[in-house]
Formats: sequence, C-alpha cells, structure tokens
Amino acid sequence: MIKQAIIPLAGLGTRLLPLTSVFAKELLPINGRPGIEYILDECIDAGIKEVVFIISDKKIMIKDYFYNDTFYKSIIKKKKDPRITKEYKKILRYKKMIKFVYQNKPLGTGDAVLKTEKYIKNNFFLMLLPDDLIIKKNCSKSMIKVHKIYKSSVMASMNVNRKTVSRWGIYKIDKKLNKKNYLINKVIEKPSVKFAPSNKAVIGRYILPKRIFLKLKKLKPGKSGELHITDAIQSLINDKEKFIAHNFSGKYLDCGTMAGYIKSSMEIKKI
Ligand code: G1P
Repeated sequence: MIKQAIIPLAGLGTRLLPLTSVFAKELLPINGRPGIEYILDECIDAGIKEVVFIISDKKIMIKDYFYNDTFYKSIIKKKKDPRITKEYKKILRYKKMIKFVYQNKPLGTGDAVLKTEKYIKNNFFLMLLPDDLIIKKNCSKSMIKVHKIYKSSVMASMNVNRKTVSRWGIYKIDKKLNKKNYLINKVIEKPSVKFAPSNKAVIGRYILPKRIFLKLKKLKPGKSGELHITDAIQSLINDKEKFIAHNFSGKYLDCGTMAGYIKSSMEIKKI
C-alpha cells in the first residue's frame, strides 16, 4: 500500500531567477494557485494520507504558508468572506497531512530522500518532484495501480528529443511489459548525447522501495558533487530490484524553467 509521499522542496530554484531570489518557486502562482497545491491534490486524489516536505531554512516560507492560522482567523473574523473561509479550510486540510524535515545544504535529490527515512513506515513510498506538473490524468494514481500489479518500483517516463537528454535521467529498456510499462536495466543521470542509452527520460514521479535508504547511505556523490536518486536506483537494479518505467498519459508541464513555468498557467487554464 502506498500511503506516504515525499516532496523535495529545498532546491534553490536558480532556473527561475529572478522570481526565486526572495520567493519559494513552489509557491509561485500557476493559474492563480501555488504550484505545490496541484502536487498535493494529485497526492490526495491518489490516496496518499501523509506527505513529508523536505524544506530548508531558506524555504521556511513554505511552512509559513500552511501555518498562517492567526492571520486567517483574524481576517475571517473581520471580513466574514466565505471565499477566504473556504481557502483557509483547504489549507488546514493540507496542513494536517504534512510533516517537515530539513535539508539545509543543497546536496542533491538523493540526500533529500535520506532526510525522510525516520518517517517512512511501509516498504514503498511515492516521491514527487514539484517542478514537474502532470495534468489531465493523475500520474501518481496510475503508477500506484502499476505498483499493485507488479509489486515493484515504478518511475514516470516519457520520450524526449534526443538533443535534450543531458537535461534528464535517461533509462534503457530491458523488457516491454505492455504498451505503457517497461522493465528497465539501466538509468543514467543527465548523460551527454553520446552516452545516452536511449531518448527515454525519467520524469519526477517515483515509487521507491524503503531499501533505497541503505543504498543512499553508501552512495558516493555523482554529477556536480550531489547525491542523485538515479544513482541509488541503478545500484538497486544491480541488486536485481525490479524498476518499471511507466509512460504516463497526462500532459507534462516543466515548471522548473522560465519558459515552461510561463506556459503552465495557459495550459492549466485550458482544462
Ligand atoms: C531531476 C532528476 C532527473 C529527472 C528530472 C525530471 O532532475 O534528477 O533524473 O529526469 O528531475 O524532471 P532536475 O530537474 O532536478 O534537474
């Protein structure tokens, strides 16, 4: 059963500067709502009951967003505006399911995952990277279905332009299971075109086994001196752990880059 999710939120957001110089990128509005709320709604709709946020001292405003009760209560008392009451209730609902851990040094996604170890109860958990919005179809929900059938780890995937492989984790197919799901035998973080085993990219949704913590603890820093989740996944694959790449049906919005972020509001408006 996948009931817990983790969300790395300690990143500096340099690809979105200057917007992120004093503001957390995950709180930037996308069609009138902070991006993080879309991610939380995806979790709730997929049956997730608890979400661990990995933040940093510099991103404390994310915690403040969910813990602004005194402010809301006084405004509601003064204004009696039903819209504000509704928004506050929504925030309270999110707050109930969130736990916070800290990653104060930007040492990579793998390091962020390690910080959540004490909270993870079941053998598998979900990770969502908040830069990646997937709309129209709940990707986490589809992945949980795949996990239930194959009892294995799952990662979201899509085909990308070969010229852009160095932007992604790229994997190699071992065996096609059906139209949308492939067993993989290799995954490399941001390879050059020359070394990319395919044009199939990992997108920011992962169902990971608890055993990944053991791997992360032993892992040496990879590209740019960071601990990459991709490298820990490869290490598990080497140990014969099954990883499935799931080609999702929703529409992918890359909100971690300025062009993608600008486009995302327009795309969400269309639904
Ligand atoms: C991360 C992962 C990468 C994955 C990508 C998806 O990279 O490390 O493997 O393909 O997310 O968005 P980042 O976007 O943090 O550079």
